Amino acid sequence: MELNRRTVIAGAAAAGIAASTLGSAAQAAPSATGSSPGRGKLLRELFGRLADGTKVHRWSLENGGTRLKVLSYGGVVQSLEVPDRRGRHANVSLGFGALDDYVASSPYFGALIGRYGNRIGRGRFTLDSRTYQLSVNDGDNSLHGGAKGFDKHVWDVEPFAEGSDVGLRLYRTSVDGEMGYPGTLRVKVTYTLTRRGEWRVDYEATTDRPTVVNLTSHVYWNLAGEGSGTIEDHELTIAASRYTPTDAGLIPTGELAKVAGTPFDFRRAKAVGRDIRAGHPQQVRAKGYDHNWVLDKGVTARPEHIATLRDPRSGRILRIATDQPGLQFYSGNFLDGTLTGTGGRTYRQGDALCLETQHFPDSPNHADFPSTVLRPGRTYRTTTVHSFGV
Ligand code: BGC
Repeated sequence: MELNRRTVIAGAAAAGIAASTLGSAAQAAPSATGSSPGRGKLLRELFGRLADGTKVHRWSLENGGTRLKVLSYGGVVQSLEVPDRRGRHANVSLGFGALDDYVASSPYFGALIGRYGNRIGRGRFTLDSRTYQLSVNDGDNSLHGGAKGFDKHVWDVEPFAEGSDVGLRLYRTSVDGEMGYPGTLRVKVTYTLTRRGEWRVDYEATTDRPTVVNLTSHVYWNLAGEGSGTIEDHELTIAASRYTPTDAGLIPTGELAKVAGTPFDFRRAKAVGRDIRAGHPQQVRAKGYDHNWVLDKGVTARPEHIATLRDPRSGRILRIATDQPGLQFYSGNFLDGTLTGTGGRTYRQGDALCLETQHFPDSPNHADFPSTVLRPGRTYRTTTVHSFGV
């Protein structure tokens, strides 16, 4: 770690430093840390190098009691700390301490996912009478953008401070044909920490040819702290009366099934573990929950509250608002004790869960699902807000 080269901006938001000058101010600024709730703070340090020598930086941000560490590799949320009911911070997202582990074996810990969150059946879809074959990396299917998705690229990162917010703008251009997808896709993702400690994610993309796009973030949550054990006691609420059952390859069958009377009913707060061993054929197939919930609100112009996660032990609460129509709730089924995380503890099945706001999996092959098509001249825009409390 090149600590001597780190760059720090303390109180940048409060001082009203313009986003455009922040980059150069950062280079010149002397190091300074210290916590001052409500005063935004940003710091950059070298996290590691890829095999080809490319530098990967880690940005540390703090605002309103939330501390966020983000890598330029994959836009990965490497750490997200929030206080418990006694004001004690813990890192509530799974990750690694070293870049090599992210490159070698990350199951998308904290990463930005693109071009397409979740699966596309047989990695194939037809758009405007042309059929596209995508990179297949999950049995017969394409998962999270293919073999080298957005999670495995280094993004350009630009810090900003605006009003009382601090944040990062992450950019990358995915060339025409990357992983089989048509069109040059120019992507901008903005991570904002607000003065209230919310983590807001705004996604934008444009294309020069008709294509499909479905971006999301793959944070693995454990509100008791990463490496502290199972999330089966966490209570979850999802504002969805239906979900999309899947086939053996976890591709939606096309049915929108009712959650009423099934283990998939999270319309009222329920411990994740309560029905996880109920033996429902859909759960047996997925080794737990790994499904898309059809949010009752549908696609909305603005983010609306759709899910709440609460850890009774620490009192920490995560509330999620989105404009997207779906939520992939994945109960960490494939964590198998072979990965050792940030705090030096192994991650076992059910030690975290993901709540990925997105369009439905395999939408390009289901004409009746909300469309994921993006055409030239249009801008893909979507927002998800994570609020923390006790
Ligand atoms: C998928 C899972 C997958 C996990 C990690 C989730 O979004 O739904 O099936 O195993 O990501 O790859």
